[in-house]
Amino acid sequence: MHLPKKVRLVEVGPRDGLQNEQQQVTTATKIELITRLADCGLTAIEATAFVSPKWVPQMADAAAVMAGIERRPGVAYPVLVPNEQGLESALAAGATEVAVFAAASDAFSQKNINCTIKESLERFRPVLVGAKAAGVKVRGYVSCALGCPYQGEVASTAVADVAWALFEMGCYEISLGDTIGSGTPEKNKAMIESVARRVPIKKLAGHYHDTRGMAVANIYAALQIGVNVFDVSVGGLGGCPYAKGASGNVATEDVVWLLQGLGIDCGVDLGMLVDTAAWVSGQLGRVPASKVAQAVIAQR
Ligand code: HMG
Ligand code: MG
Repeated sequence: MHLPKKVRLVEVGPRDGLQNEQQQVTTATKIELITRLADCGLTAIEATAFVSPKWVPQMADAAAVMAGIERRPGVAYPVLVPNEQGLESALAAGATEVAVFAAASDAFSQKNINCTIKESLERFRPVLVGAKAAGVKVRGYVSCALGCPYQGEVASTAVADVAWALFEMGCYEISLGDTIGSGTPEKNKAMIESVARRVPIKKLAGHYHDTRGMAVANIYAALQIGVNVFDVSVGGLGGCPYAKGASGNVATEDVVWLLQGLGIDCGVDLGMLVDTAAWVSGQLGRVPASKVAQAVIAQR
């Protein structure tokens, strides 16, 4: 088995982690979270989303978050944009990287962004053109890569079609989302291998929600076949408001522990990360969901 020496982690806590939070999280808390995550050594921090505030009220302060963060050299602060309006706002806020988000299921696409997969891809094309003209990198997401909350099973060929469309349009990396955490390792490998027949595996990332506790197992499986970029969320925060049952993303701490155990470098300080998980969870009135954070805290 050949494992990578290095893995790139994309921290999505400030966006995916907080977007579904029912209580109001202050802009100051979001900014402090992003600062702390950079202090931990994370070099890609998805900061916010320029989406409709009617659809996702928690992200309504996107411009204020972008205005308030200190941009560190060597750290990317991507933001989600669903359309040209989102791109315009993101550019005005000084974003240097954005992410478009499609799905492999039409039913989910309708619920999440109010259009079919085909319409979403048509919507993204001018976003890619505009971003390129502004010198801004674009990442692509494919939701429901291992199952859809509305449709059920999703064919891996459908995932590959959407991944290819985004890659062909100019996305530099495609993040394959197990939106409702229904994947298991062998199914995950088969899905990735199917997508990798269309998009080079080094251009793929894994985004696993931990609804059924399978995320770390799925990451280990993906590592074994050559994926070396994973989306993570501090404290296991998160969920998609338009995917019932999509609990938190895999906790950054759990993934860092896994990688350290495998001798894989990800450049993150676990102790500081656990402090950050405890801090942000405290801000939300709870303890960190991740077992690694709980264990580290218990041993102190
Ligand atoms: P729509 O209602 O069809 O939009 O929503 P519209 O174009 O008809 O416009 C209606 C109103 O929305 C107008 O305002 C627009 O200005 C406004 P009004 O005239 O009524 O006052 N609007 C916007 N406002 C701010 N920013 C914008 C924007 N665009 C239009 N960018 C839309 C379509 C896509 C906008 C909406 O469905 C939306 O914002 N959806 C976002 C849903 C979302 O953020 N979901 C969570 C992120 S995806 C996710 O979590 C999955 C992921 O983590 C991977 C995984 O886990 O699988 C990435
Ligand atoms: Mg997600």
